[in-house]
Amino acid sequence: MRLLVTGGCGFIGSNFISHWLSGHPGSEIVNLDLMTYAADMRNLEEAEGRGCETVVGDIADRDLVSRIVRDVDAVVNFAAETHVDSSIMDSAQFVHSNVIGVHSILEACRKHEKRLHHVSTDEVYGSLGPGEGRFTENSRYAPMNPYSATKASGDHLVRAYFNTYGIKATISNCGNNYGPRQHAEKLVPKTITNAMLGRKIPVYGSGRQIRDWIHVWDHCSAIEAILEKGRLGETYLVGASNEMENINVIKSILRTMGKQDSLIEHVADRPGHDARYALDPSKLVKETGWICRYGFEEGMKATVDWYLKRIGS
Ligand SMILES: NC(=O)c1ccc[n+]([C@@H]2O[C@H](COP(=O)([O-])OP(=O)(O)OC[C@H]3O[C@@H](n4cnc5c(N)ncnc54)[C@H](O)[C@@H]3O)[C@@H](O)[C@H]2O)c1
Repeated sequence: MRLLVTGGCGFIGSNFISHWLSGHPGSEIVNLDLMTYAADMRNLEEAEGRGCETVVGDIADRDLVSRIVRDVDAVVNFAAETHVDSSIMDSAQFVHSNVIGVHSILEACRKHEKRLHHVSTDEVYGSLGPGEGRFTENSRYAPMNPYSATKASGDHLVRAYFNTYGIKATISNCGNNYGPRQHAEKLVPKTITNAMLGRKIPVYGSGRQIRDWIHVWDHCSAIEAILEKGRLGETYLVGASNEMENINVIKSILRTMGKQDSLIEHVADRPGHDARYALDPSKLVKETGWICRYGFEEGMKATVDWYLKRIGS
């Protein structure tokens, strides 16, 4: 099996490459990554030379993508601009990578008749109220910020290419990931880093926003399960059924680190901040047999240890 993984120097892509190579010895991965500020070559230290080769380039470069896709069996698309705050400041690069980039991959998969798994987010479904149940694969798309709008556009293109051209595609929409290798701009690494340095930890508004937190390795095993057992043309929600308020995620990290809650500093809320995301993963579990392995407490403790080691090294 030869895979094209895009965005493999980022958080989830690099964890997926490690996961895949461990479970599929002898397989090969081409990682296509633009090496934006979010990429870190250290994330692939153990994978490079063990079946993974990195090409620096843009998923929106149609000639390059077509050349690579021609010689692989399947594509897993992680590459994206991912920081909601940055998309609010300027969304041009989000449209480029998350919409034009997806279109370029779809064209290559159409031309060379290759399998695609497209990685997306629960944010495409917008915001839930407190008593509103959870997102399912049938929930209506209602993106509320430029990041989620571009991810929703990418998903729509994938679905349209399946319906129109019959390309062999699946989509997954996952909740908030935590685990090793995430960029320091995101909530979990930022909390750990600031707490370690004794700096204030900024929290948007009340911090009562609810997210459905999953360990990145559980996300990776879900993508593997969909690649191997998912039905073409289908979408699968990936979640750990672990709804938590952001403020409680931060407090849990501080507890693990033996730090005081007084480090928390409430700042002005993000414009259009979604109140709650929650996903129902029943379809994924039923159709692929996927099992969520990491509990939040143990997963977060290992995550904290990992960042402390990286910051200290
Ligand atoms: N982090 C989460 O909690 C989460 C949750 C659900 C879904 N997702 C989705 O998972 C995917 C990966 O997220 P992440 O958190 O690992 O992101 P990340 O920001 O850590 O990494 C993104 C990677 O994509 C690369 N990239 C960006 N634009 C590119 C382009 N045009 N061409 C080639 N490479 C490009 C970057 O250099 C980087 O290495 C994204 O599609 C994201 O929408 C993330």
